[in-house]
Amino acid sequence: MIAMTLAEIAEVVGGTVHGDPASESTVVTGGAFVDTRTPEADGLFVAIAGERVDGHDLAEQAIAAGAVAVLGSRPTTAPTVVVDDVVAALGALARHVHDSLTDLATYALTGSQGKTGTKDYLAAILEGDGPIVATRGNFNNEIGVPLTVLRAGADTKHLVVEMGARGIGHIAQLCRIAPPDVAAVVNVGTAHIGEFGSREAIAVAKGEIVEALTAEGTAVLNADDALVAAMAPRTTASVVTFGAGGDLRATEVSTDELGRPSFDLQWRGSGATVHLGQLGLHQVENALAAAAMALSGGLDLDAVADGLTDARPPSRWRMEVHERADGTVVVNDAYNANPESMAAALAVLDGIRERSGRRTIAVLGEMFELGEGAVEAHRAVGRTAARAGVDVLLTIGDMASRMAEAARAEAGWSGEAIVTAGHAEAVAWLRQNGSAGDVVLVKASRGAALERVAEAVLDEPMTDEPSDDTPAEGSRTP
Ligand SMILES: Nc1ncnc2c1ncn2[C@@H]1O[C@H](COP(=O)(O)OP(=O)(O)OP(=O)(O)O)[C@@H](O)[C@H]1O
Ligand SMILES: [Mg+2]
Repeated sequence: MIAMTLAEIAEVVGGTVHGDPASESTVVTGGAFVDTRTPEADGLFVAIAGERVDGHDLAEQAIAAGAVAVLGSRPTTAPTVVVDDVVAALGALARHVHDSLTDLATYALTGSQGKTGTKDYLAAILEGDGPIVATRGNFNNEIGVPLTVLRAGADTKHLVVEMGARGIGHIAQLCRIAPPDVAAVVNVGTAHIGEFGSREAIAVAKGEIVEALTAEGTAVLNADDALVAAMAPRTTASVVTFGAGGDLRATEVSTDELGRPSFDLQWRGSGATVHLGQLGLHQVENALAAAAMALSGGLDLDAVADGLTDARPPSRWRMEVHERADGTVVVNDAYNANPESMAAALAVLDGIRERSGRRTIAVLGEMFELGEGAVEAHRAVGRTAARAGVDVLLTIGDMASRMAEAARAEAGWSGEAIVTAGHAEAVAWLRQNGSAGDVVLVKASRGAALERVAEAVLDEPMTDEPSDDTPAEGSRTP
């Protein structure tokens, strides 16, 4: 953030400074934060009154964690800027900081699916071009967006902002906090259609992002998605399209035996080859959206292609592919699990088995918080694993053993089910029975910490913590 005194902050947000007489001249130099577990040094703690915890009661903790002051709706034990509406004040402060950073290029993106994936690709591309600030994890709502903006400082060159919407007007509001120079709509799907009523209504909401552009800006639109392509008349900015028939196209699209796409980027008569490190053809759409945004921001095609090829997105442990020197592949999806994502991951494993003929091993642990239906949900995953033809289903823990039980009962499955009690036993089995070329999927709910199994199989530490994708206040779907 740019350095500001509490008196200056109070003026910008229309608040008053409370605390000892020195408080007015206290200087905030760090960013802002709402969670005392992820503080910003010399930052501003934003006190939100939640359902379970009232941030105002955490002021001491926030100061101990590194904050120099609090933004809240009532005085606290720390120097505090008091306002009527904390979220509105946070937005106003972010806009002020954004407007002070006159050299900053702001890239905003929305869509029904793939926002975070696109954001991660764009950040990976732009990183090679100077200091960037990008949305962490899924911080894409009226709290997450200003927190992202407030991490930017005088030396920041590119700001990448993921924007989510639950209704009409939400994206417009987020664009008032971080007015974009380049704005993209990745797609319009049916995710959370209940909140909007129809796909057309979702398009109205998502298209607000291009309405926010000035004539100097660039709107990046998906040529393959009719509702997105139809947003072009809603902006005065230049329009760049991606997809078949678009300004930026992917040709020669193929996948390797694991399902990682390769393609040629075609842009204004030039081409460059991309090999993505992530699984699934849907990544091509996200990569194209990110590439079109970076090209609109002035990067050259080779830098864009290299950035995509080298991208190792920071949203970790989600279908993350690792290859051991002997060819063993570990797909680390230990970030989280529910019945749908288990089925999706097993379908990917099935595809790899079919394409490559390799032995597949699904190492699965418990899915938490399923309530009364838990046993049946675990049994269903076991049946899905058997139908996906996994060669080995290795379960960890009591609840997950129901998967093994159900798989064994599935007629026609020729695989093997191994039940283990915990990590150590599972790792021991894998070390003893694994062979070069195996493809090992590792997945369970976050609390089961199965990344440690992935780590042990790879014999390398999973050093990077995943970004917290499930903050109480920072994110919103879709
Ligand atoms: N372009 C795409 N088309 C269809 N499905 C996709 C696409 N990109 C990602 N997905 C699927 O959607 C899931 C969520 O992806 P991602 O987190 O990037 O989306 P998001 O739009 O950021 O979601 P959220 O609304 O939670 O922020 C992925 O795990 C993948 O299965
Ligand atoms: Mg997201």
